[in-house]
Amino acid sequence: MTSVSIPIDSGFVIRYIDAGNALPDIRALKPVMLERLALGPGMRLLELGCGAGDDARASARHLRGDGRVVGIDAVATLVAEATRRSLGSHLPVEFRVGDALALDLPDGTFDRCRIERLLMHVDGDPARAVAEAARVLRPGGRAVVFDFDWDAFVIDGADREVTRRIVRSFSDGIRNGWVGRALPRLVADAGLEDVTVLPHGVAIPYDFFGWLVSSHLDSALAAGLFTPTELIAWWDQLDAAHAGGGFFAALLGFVVTGTKPTDGARGRP
Ligand SMILES: C[S@@+](CC[C@H](N)C(=O)[O-])C[C@H]1O[C@@H](n2cnc3c(N)ncnc32)[C@H](O)[C@@H]1O
Repeated sequence: MTSVSIPIDSGFVIRYIDAGNALPDIRALKPVMLERLALGPGMRLLELGCGAGDDARASARHLRGDGRVVGIDAVATLVAEATRRSLGSHLPVEFRVGDALALDLPDGTFDRCRIERLLMHVDGDPARAVAEAARVLRPGGRAVVFDFDWDAFVIDGADREVTRRIVRSFSDGIRNGWVGRALPRLVADAGLEDVTVLPHGVAIPYDFFGWLVSSHLDSALAAGLFTPTELIAWWDQLDAAHAGGGFFAALLGFVVTGTKPTDGARGRP
């Protein structure tokens, strides 16, 4: 297995991943993806960008017989945390360090592949990761992918132009900020068929919003994209809205599924 340990502050990242997964609309996403995975007895599921492994474990509970989940993540400390959280669970799940852009796995070995909020972060072409997922699926196997489109980040800010500039700079600061809108195309281009698309919005509560955007805005301020006056006024208005119970921000993502053709003559090249 390729070792691609990304250097990060894993304590922060684990808390951040857990906080993201605790958001009500992310919790609501999980059963939607599970339903689309249509897991059955004996299936092998690959979870790419598994983080702390909670979804891999939840999926493993739906496998019977000799079914198995393999979770892959680029960050060794997340793989260690996922393994630690699974100790004593007796679930058929294992975690490995690996790179979604170059999977050290043979062709055609998985029945299902689940990918949630990975592609926006991959340090390379997300099409490559989707192609890798398609490669390791068996004919008839299915991929279920979810990701956000960061230009579809709606924030009820009072200053429309500053809000638009903030959304735009934030989206441009995400490695693959437009991957949400590209997902149906990426899945089809990887040769998967019967592509379905389900938009799924995620309301962002004020506390998480602050966590999400403040470090980006610090960098944007340092880069001269905004004046301190603009940002202070913008935050003041959001603080006041929050204090009055009127803060609102939400982000749009897409659940996209595709199935690997069983007939080698079908599918896009
Ligand atoms: C936003 S987190 C989502 C984690 C998990 N899917 C979840 O929903 O809780 C993105 C994950 O993708 C992983 N990741 C980023 N680039 C990767 C790559 N090239 N290969 C594998 N994992 C990667 C990160 O380490 C992180 O765990």
